[in-house]
Amino acid sequence: MKILLLAGGISKERQVSLDSGKSVFESLIRQEHTVFAIDPANNKSLVGNDNLFIDFKNNNSANSTSPKKSDLRSLANTIGSPGFHDIDLVFITLHGGIGENGTIQSLLSLAEKHYTGSNMIASAIAMDKAISKSLFKSESIPTPVWSLFRLNTEEISNEIINSIKETHTFPVIVKPNDGGSTLGISKVSSPEELIKAFEKALTDSPNILVEDFISGRELTVAILDEHIFPVVEIKTSNELYDYQAKYTHGKSTYIVPADIDSDTTKELQDSARKVYDIIGAAGMARIDFILDEKTNCYCLELNTLPGMTDLSLAPMAAKASGIDFDKLIGMIIESGLK
Ligand SMILES: Nc1ncnc2c1ncn2[C@@H]1O[C@H](COP(=O)(O)OP(=O)(O)O)[C@@H](O)[C@H]1O
Ligand SMILES: [Mg+2]
Repeated sequence: MKILLLAGGISKERQVSLDSGKSVFESLIRQEHTVFAIDPANNKSLVGNDNLFIDFKNNNSANSTSPKKSDLRSLANTIGSPGFHDIDLVFITLHGGIGENGTIQSLLSLAEKHYTGSNMIASAIAMDKAISKSLFKSESIPTPVWSLFRLNTEEISNEIINSIKETHTFPVIVKPNDGGSTLGISKVSSPEELIKAFEKALTDSPNILVEDFISGRELTVAILDEHIFPVVEIKTSNELYDYQAKYTHGKSTYIVPADIDSDTTKELQDSARKVYDIIGAAGMARIDFILDEKTNCYCLELNTLPGMTDLSLAPMAAKASGIDFDKLIGMIIESGLK
């Protein structure tokens, strides 16, 4: 099959995307596909003269060429160019920003290309945590109590602080409404710390979500169409499952299947399925939960483009049900062609 892989991009999750892209690229080559790989940040090929995926970690100059603004017109031209007319599938391993919020998905739909994962609408909904949470609530899926602030100034008014004090009990979590990889997230113990937390989140988005902090176990469920994979528990010594805990070897440990009773497993998997269906996700997705002491399963979010290195959570969950990385990539391709 002739496959175009998209990885990199200009979001803060660029490096994670390049890591996912490398793992997927290598799997596609093992499976004897013809693979092109392009970075939407600059429309450059991600494949070196040696036919290997460029190792950006040891090649900073190549990495630093990413512009601040994506040139979508160039990407559209590239995808529409004669060399890509007979592409069977676009495999997306972008994370965050326009790669995950539906923008690139709509461009690919307009170009009439098959692509992996969710469509534009599901991607846009999932990227907006507050809209997702309204849907969870409408389906009676527990989710932490939240307030959304769409700010058009950097000023955090007393009105905002008072409204948080009225609605929430501290500690609270302050996060960008449309972020990823735990970037811009703070745990806030008292009202005095709110301004700093808002300022941090505002560097990622003008839309700030405040949530009750749920103390409990960190669990995640991966779904690929009709397949639902075993629950994964994440244990980290960091306070939150933050960027460092996510991407530093040895910072977190993973238990799969999670050591939870069968009722809780069923509840998590049923909730994950409901979330997947109500958002309208397709292909691979991963749904994040916190399980509190009373075994309430609070849903935080659905990720339409979960990490895809062979050590990432979704591939780990698939492996626990006997599906190795290459087989999983094959299943994602089949799903994208549907
Ligand atoms: N309401 C909350 N209560 C407790 N921990 C939270 C809460 N919201 C986020 N976290 C912590 O921050 C991490 C990232 O939050 P999440 O909402 O999944 O955003 P992201 O898109 O960055 O992954 C979670 O995995 C968890 O460790
Ligand atoms: Mg998450």
